[in-house]
Amino acid sequence: MGQVISIVSQKGGVGKTSTAANLGACLSAMKQKVLLLELDPQCGLARCFHLDAPHVQFGLLDLLRDGAAPSEVVYLSHRRLPNLDVIPANVQSSADEAVFVGLLRERRDLFTETLDQLATGYDYIFIDCPPRLDYPTTTALVASDFYLVPIQCEYAAMATVGRVLRAALEVKRRINPLLGIYGFLITMADKRASFTIKIIEEVRQYLKERVFKTVIPRDPYLAEVPKRGEPILAYELESPGAKAYIRLAKEILTGGAHLQRSPQ
Ligand SMILES: Nc1ncnc2c1ncn2[C@@H]1O[C@H](COP(=O)(O)OP(=O)(O)OP(=O)(O)O)[C@@H](O)[C@H]1O
Ligand SMILES: [Mg+2]
Repeated sequence: MGQVISIVSQKGGVGKTSTAANLGACLSAMKQKVLLLELDPQCGLARCFHLDAPHVQFGLLDLLRDGAAPSEVVYLSHRRLPNLDVIPANVQSSADEAVFVGLLRERRDLFTETLDQLATGYDYIFIDCPPRLDYPTTTALVASDFYLVPIQCEYAAMATVGRVLRAALEVKRRINPLLGIYGFLITMADKRASFTIKIIEEVRQYLKERVFKTVIPRDPYLAEVPKRGEPILAYELESPGAKAYIRLAKEILTGGAHLQRSPQ
C-alpha cells in the first residue's frame, strides 16, 4: 500500500506543481512506482507532461462525473520514465472547472475509495493541490496519509504556514485522524540573495526537524518544465534544480527525520 501525500499551500506559485512533477520523476527513476494526481483545475501539472487538452481524452473530471474507470484516466508520464504515471484533471473550460470543484466536494467518498484502490499499485501518490485551503484541497487531505508544504524562500515565508497547519488540523480532528505532516520544503532559494540564509534559519527554528534538509534552489531550468512538457530529469540532469530534487528523493527514501505523524 503506497503513501498518499498531498502537496498543499494556499499561496500560489510556491512550487507545489514543480515539486509534484520533479520529485515524482526522481523517485520513479529510483525504481519507485509513482502516481501524480492533478487536483488543480489550472492543469499546470498536466502541462509538465504534455497531458493537458487536447493531448488526453479523459481525466479525473471524467472519473468523478461520468464514472470513467481509474485505468482509463491513468497516463504514462514520459517514455523514459516508465514508473511514473499521471492522472490529469482534464478541465478544459470554466464550466468544467465549476463542475470539477463541485464534484470534489460532493463525491468525496468516491475520490477516497478510488485513491485507496490506486494506492495498492504504487509506492507514492502525490496530489497536486490548487492554491487554496477549502475545496478541493480539503478533499485531498481527507484522502491522504500525509501532506507536504512547499515554503517559498522569501520575506514573510512563515506567514503562510499557520493557515496550512490550522486547515490540516481541522481535517485531522474532524475526519482523518491519521493525517500527518510529511515535511516542509524550502523552495526557490536564491543563494545570491543576502536574506536567504536568514530565512532558512528562521523556518528551521520554527518548524524544526519537520523541514526537509534538502533546499530547492531557484533554477531557471526548473521554470522551463511546463514549457518543455517534461520534468527536469529528462533534459538537465546536472542542473542545481535537478540535483536538489534527486537529493530530496534520496532523503525521502532513507526516511529522514521529517516523518511526523502529528501536525503539532
Ligand atoms: N525552484 C524553482 N526555480 C525557478 N522557477 C521555479 C522553481 N520552482 C517552480 N518554478 C516556476 O515558478 C512558477 C510557479 O511554480 P509552481 O507552478 O510549481 O507553483 P505552484 O505552487 O504550483 O503554483 P500554483 O499555486 O499557481 O499552482 C512556475 O512557472 C514554475 O515553473
Ligand atoms: Mg500548481
